[in-house]
Amino acid sequence: ASPAVRLSVRADQPGAKIERDIFGQFAEHLGTGIYEGVWVGPNSAIPNIRGIRSDVVQALRAIKVPNVRWPGGCFADEYHWREGIGPAAERPARLNASWGGVIEPNTFGTHEFFDFAEQLGAEVFLSVNIGSGTVQEAADWMEYLTADKPTALAQERARNGRRAPYKVKYLGLGNENWGCGGAMSATHYVEEMKRYAHYSRNLDPAQTGANAMKRVAVGWDSGNSDYTEEVMKAWKGKVWSWDIEGVSLHAYTIPNSWERKGPSVGFGEDQYAKGIKATLQMKDWIGKQSAIMDRYDPEKKLGLYVDEWGIWVDPNPGSNPGFLQQQNTLRDAIIAALNLNIFMRNADRVRGTNIAQMVNVLQAMILTDGPRMVLTPTYHVYHMYVPFQGATVVPVSFEAGSYRFGDVEVPRVDAVAARDASGGLWLALTNVDPNRPARFSASVAGVPARSAQGRILTGTAVDAHNGFADPDRVAPRPFSGRASGGQLHFDLPAKSIAVVQVR
Ligand code: AHR
Repeated sequence: ASPAVRLSVRADQPGAKIERDIFGQFAEHLGTGIYEGVWVGPNSAIPNIRGIRSDVVQALRAIKVPNVRWPGGCFADEYHWREGIGPAAERPARLNASWGGVIEPNTFGTHEFFDFAEQLGAEVFLSVNIGSGTVQEAADWMEYLTADKPTALAQERARNGRRAPYKVKYLGLGNENWGCGGAMSATHYVEEMKRYAHYSRNLDPAQTGANAMKRVAVGWDSGNSDYTEEVMKAWKGKVWSWDIEGVSLHAYTIPNSWERKGPSVGFGEDQYAKGIKATLQMKDWIGKQSAIMDRYDPEKKLGLYVDEWGIWVDPNPGSNPGFLQQQNTLRDAIIAALNLNIFMRNADRVRGTNIAQMVNVLQAMILTDGPRMVLTPTYHVYHMYVPFQGATVVPVSFEAGSYRFGDVEVPRVDAVAARDASGGLWLALTNVDPNRPARFSASVAGVPARSAQGRILTGTAVDAHNGFADPDRVAPRPFSGRASGGQLHFDLPAKSIAVVQVR
């Protein structure tokens, strides 16, 4: 038997606030992520409210989605918002050239998206089109959304059914403009970005001060830092008129190579171990991007927004490869937990993240098939982690040990802790090892620790997943620790994630 992992949980020490937006989502016009996954239309036999499917909304409400990023992704840099307002029958059909070459009917546009966010109780993160749009187009969108005075665009908004301004919490200034967003050099992007940052004004006086919109500039892709460097240099040297509140990082987990990413299901320990190793690069990527930001912004005024992340593997056989449909397994749940843990440990700089993507695309929360819906193992992690939203980090120290497979070696376990707004202490424990159980013994300073109850997620295999016929194969079960000798003890089975409240 392996020795217990000794956790020292310092609830008597201060920690950073875990912004709720760390648990944000991303919904792009890609595959069936919007059409079918979210939007079925008001005349559908699938229960819906104003065209938005109710089963999906209900499930997402349970994970308390803090914000949704939309309309892309690569799609954002070819999206023209005017095509998605007004009578549905008059909206132009376009080709979604980024994703699958299918018709984009523009049925789901600005009003439908805000309706969806309001049904979820979520804030919005809009990405403006820098790649193929204009500064005027972005400025007009902002006026349309946020003007509280009767400007021509505010009146048009009212005619389209919305009198009060919409709240825009985040404005993404482009998307991957080093690639699909226009293949711009970093210096060229910065010149464009400054104009968008200046003219894309939020005109609603209620959206000022603590309620002010945050502009997020494009930062580095996982392998390349020049965008972050140039954006931060420009921000540091800015003299007047434009500003930003954050820089983005896109960081996907690819178990093998870009060309052959690896299967989403039907894999063994080799792909599992490679996936875990690949995902733990997130720590280094955040470390490198934070180090650049620290040089220009030691006071941490700007946030780092990991506004696209998740495991990206080969599409389901037989599916449109441009739809990025993949099965979601216990491996993906462990990957979600490890990344959320990394984000929380870096909460002093990481103020938001958006997993890619919410429904039917990449590392999804939910998969749909006609009227059917299934919750993925990743969804369950988000559900179990709800108590960490808005909580305060509690420092935890431990020796993780190693899990090895072939030439891959990664930490065998992981643990994070936080205190919620009512002072409740929460622990999240992960046993990465797919073969051996792990025993944790926790000493807790600062609060009484007489018992611990919560839930655990595990499965029979690393590729265990939920199907439409068996939707609860991977689902959380009750779990508790036991107290003895002044410590709390937890026995986690192989490949599992537990979240408990300590009392
Ligand atoms: O999430 C899928 C795509 O990945 C996004 O559209 C793009 O920004 C990234 O490359």
